Amino acid sequence: MTEHTTSPATTERPLVVHTAEELRRALADAGRVALVPTMGALHAGHRSLMRLARDRADTVVVSIFVNPLQFGPGEDFDRYPRTLDTDTGVCAEEGVDVVFAPTVATMYPTEPMVTVQAGAMGELLEGASRPGFFTGVLTVVSKLLHLVAPDLAVFGQKDAQQIAIVRRMVADLSMPIEIVGAPTLRDPDGLAVSSRNVYLSDDERASALALHRALAAGREGAAGGPDAVRAAARAVLDGAAQADPPVVPDYVALVDPATFTDAPADFEGEAVLAVAARVGSTRLIDNVPVTFTTARPGSDAGPDAAAL
Ligand code: PAF
Repeated sequence: MTEHTTSPATTERPLVVHTAEELRRALADAGRVALVPTMGALHAGHRSLMRLARDRADTVVVSIFVNPLQFGPGEDFDRYPRTLDTDTGVCAEEGVDVVFAPTVATMYPTEPMVTVQAGAMGELLEGASRPGFFTGVLTVVSKLLHLVAPDLAVFGQKDAQQIAIVRRMVADLSMPIEIVGAPTLRDPDGLAVSSRNVYLSDDERASALALHRALAAGREGAAGGPDAVRAAARAVLDGAAQADPPVVPDYVALVDPATFTDAPADFEGEAVLAVAARVGSTRLIDNVPVTFTTARPGSDAGPDAAAL
């Protein structure tokens, strides 16, 4: 990024801006812009998104906004971690140019009347468990894309359905923006890195490893086809219902990543094995790709079941 006019006295990065006008000034003459949309509580997974963005753009913008529209009644909007100072430090370490941290009043000066609906894909899995979630996500993401007008935006593959729906929105609404998916980052024991992991006690965190074990078991069952994958993953997650503290499964699904509908028995190509479960009061999601070739049990070449 070259010069900006918002805060001429400082060349410190990142420049933290809160309004659309400050953002516009900060991005004048910004070259190729990458946006990393976040809700803050930045962790190693976000860092990997920022690095991907850094490699591919002149100017990296990280948005930090806990979006009320994507939280349902009884969800964790109020207790969601808000750590702007620490987050700004993380952005500085990752060479981010601009942090856009709007207030709720800036993003929603009035209750929105026009929102972006996800359609059928938005009713499945996460959408079924969290009604209105994808409307909230797509509405805020489209607002951020309009405000920042990036060349590309980077999202974590951990939220596989979210990225699929965002890709679909960008295509359907002809937004000239490349959507880049970044691989899920895992702790050494396999737990997918997530802002919500901070809610977990040590015991809950140990129980939560069942999600990763379920995905690994599912992948190992790939030679038996989609139903075998589902059954293997489901068995591990159901077994974890006996753990202390228990894991309460929400769904185990093997889906076509383009539609998030169930992968049929003769599915070929890369499917997504996705799980969601609650441990204590924390809801966790995770997923892995599982590739099916034409080969099925009894043939020489089997599906790819590479290690997670
Ligand atoms: O993935 C998230 O953190 C949020 O859903 C997003 C994309 C920043 C929209 O609020």
